[in-house]
Amino acid sequence: MKDSAQRILELRNELDAHNYRYYVLDEPSVPDAEYDRLFRELQALEAEHPELVTPDSPTQRVGGEALSAFGEVRHEVPMLSLGNAFEEDDLRAFDRSVQNGLGVQGGDLFGGGAEVEYSCEPKLDGLAVSLLYRDGKLVRGATRGDGTTGEDISVNVRTIRNVPLKLQGSGWPDVLEVRGEVYMSRAGFERLNAAQAEIGGKTFANPRNAAAGSLRQLDSKITASRPLEFCCYGLGQHSAEPAPTQVGMLQRLKSWGIPISPELKLAKGVEDCLAYYRDIGERRMGLPYDIDGVVFKVNNIEDQQQLGFRARTPHWAIAHKFPAMEELTELLDVEFQVGRTGAVTPVARLKPVKVAGVTVSNATLHNMDEVARLGVMIGDTVIIRRAGDVIPQVMQVVTERRPENARPVAVPEQCPVCGSAVERTQLIKRSKGRETVSEGAVYRCVGRLACAAQLKQAIIHFVSRRAMDIEGLGEKSVEQLVDEGLVGSPADLYTLEFDQVVGLEGFAEVSSNKLLKAIADSKRPSLARFIYALGIPDVGEETAKVLARSLGSLERVTQALPEVLTYLPDIGLEVAHEIHSFFEDAHNQTVIRHLLERGLELQDQGELAAEFAASTTLGGLLDKLNIPFVAATGAKNLAERFKTLEAVITADWLDLSAMKGLNEKAKQSVREFFANADNANRARAIETQLRDFGMHWESEKKVVEGLPLAGQTWVLTGSLEVMSRDVAKDKLESLGAKVAGSVSAKTTCVVAGPGAGSKLAKATELNIPVLDEQAFIARLGDYGIAAE
Ligand code: IVH
Repeated sequence: MKDSAQRILELRNELDAHNYRYYVLDEPSVPDAEYDRLFRELQALEAEHPELVTPDSPTQRVGGEALSAFGEVRHEVPMLSLGNAFEEDDLRAFDRSVQNGLGVQGGDLFGGGAEVEYSCEPKLDGLAVSLLYRDGKLVRGATRGDGTTGEDISVNVRTIRNVPLKLQGSGWPDVLEVRGEVYMSRAGFERLNAAQAEIGGKTFANPRNAAAGSLRQLDSKITASRPLEFCCYGLGQHSAEPAPTQVGMLQRLKSWGIPISPELKLAKGVEDCLAYYRDIGERRMGLPYDIDGVVFKVNNIEDQQQLGFRARTPHWAIAHKFPAMEELTELLDVEFQVGRTGAVTPVARLKPVKVAGVTVSNATLHNMDEVARLGVMIGDTVIIRRAGDVIPQVMQVVTERRPENARPVAVPEQCPVCGSAVERTQLIKRSKGRETVSEGAVYRCVGRLACAAQLKQAIIHFVSRRAMDIEGLGEKSVEQLVDEGLVGSPADLYTLEFDQVVGLEGFAEVSSNKLLKAIADSKRPSLARFIYALGIPDVGEETAKVLARSLGSLERVTQALPEVLTYLPDIGLEVAHEIHSFFEDAHNQTVIRHLLERGLELQDQGELAAEFAASTTLGGLLDKLNIPFVAATGAKNLAERFKTLEAVITADWLDLSAMKGLNEKAKQSVREFFANADNANRARAIETQLRDFGMHWESEKKVVEGLPLAGQTWVLTGSLEVMSRDVAKDKLESLGAKVAGSVSAKTTCVVAGPGAGSKLAKATELNIPVLDEQAFIARLGDYGIAAE
């Protein structure tokens, strides 16, 4: 007895603290599931000892207190909450109580009988809001508060994009209070957190907290900048009944422009409800927003009125909950994994815990900046969240529960796989004519392909469909090839022999021959595919295409100086440095040499792109040198005055001081910059390279001729037989065309294979030229490009 009384006090204190953090600070320190467990424990103890129940117990209250900073709103019709069902049996019991309440006959011997109709809606995980419309105009918005009194957030709700300020159509009641959930999509939440982390602002533990924190902002400009959405599920006060049923009512509201859930369904009987629960449950992780259950409501509004309310929950509705997406567990250790580009990333090893129906024992920690942001230590109790298809994440640390022997997370000095040094990456940024180097969040093993972890990943990437497209080599086989020492670099794939392959697990004679043929068939990749296949950090397919198209040859790509690379579209200084240092690396050079020696012939190599040639000017070059205090216009003026780089380098003080369009400080800086021989030589090297690549300053004035299909937009549709659509797309892009997914008046030409449907029809309708595959191949031939 004494123990129970003691525990009740403890639970109340803890729940009060959680309530305060949840409702007032929008910053809960434990997940809902944990809160619910404590709450239920208290409820059970109070049920056993009714004499210990006090009016101020958290079980006797609904929710939060109104934040004093906002005005108060009294809810004419109280904003209630819902009873919960966790098991199917709970729902069946609810259905029976509804049937009893309505006095409907139970089922007869033949399984027929009265089945109650229910509206089925997802239970969005956001916060309840009331919107009051008078004469079709939004006049007030309020939070739920304690159910009787909420906060006036009229200004803030007006910033939510899908909340209509005026109702559409006609027939709405003069007074119409709609109620629903304000929530944030997962994508919106991720974007917001990323942006907040970038500026060192407050990040949120989940979309629900983010929605609450965004809505209850005293500065409505902040609310307006947040990706909030509204979804209506019911009514408060209303001067007329819009429809006799819940589903009919929501559909009517929809016709007035009020957003409702696209998942709204009508169920006949409890079995239909359970089917809805299972269906949404299966699709839950694929929905763009968090839901924590589904809600069933008696569909007929008169029946709802007949059933009435318990203290704070209706008899006619129930929430059927899903397993929680967030749980508490212990961080047992942090291990470091080595990825394809050598990035050494921290991975949380957790005490296994069930999250939304799946046992989780690992979670991503992203990088060391994230570890620092979370302030996480080994031994901590952490909140794990599993949402969508993403890997479970560590969202928050429950610092109150940190044990005394908690240890900090330290990056290993040596790679856990190969023992090479682990270095912190650097970020190179340029602003106001200055290049600054700062520490990056990523640590990297410097072992490159000498590191087995990187080698395996590099080969898996190299053979992948969008890279060299070698079929038949799965991850397990790659691991075996590396572990058995048969392959030490991607180039070694091309020396593999039948006897070696047939010895591998899962390879018989036929499959071995098939693999060797696939390897041999991969020997003529386009330059772009080859660059992509190399797996240069930060170089995805698009960047690989830009490099191939602009520079036209592997030789130029491997030699390009970082400054020269930054002339290319969408290549910034950081990526430029990655590319340059990749090709500077002796090991990588050897691999590329071996690949070429072993018979790789790169296709689609050609001239330097004319756009690129035309983009190089002396002013642009001077700008790229980052001479302190010399911005783009200053660089241009220098170029105009001196005409050649050599003249700028050797300009004497008299020439410079006589010059217009550059301030004193900048002139001084130019002199000092070129007085340093390293700077002067670097500038000369860049200019020499640009010339070697076939560019000259005069080209500035040349008309941009571009690639033969530059400025054109092509669409591929139907199935192609000779080449895949990916290959066709590559070829078109190498000729400068854009390849789009849909036909519009801007489309230049459509390539249509068998099975083409609406796109072909649209092209015909718009009078856009259509080629079949043969004609397309012939056209490629005109530009000197083979179909193979
Ligand atoms: S009906 C009298 N329908 O869940 C009925 N609530 O625990 C009151 N919620 O505060 C609510 N989706 O914020 C209802 N389709 C839905 C809902 C929903 C989410 C929230 C709502 C309410 C809480 C009830």
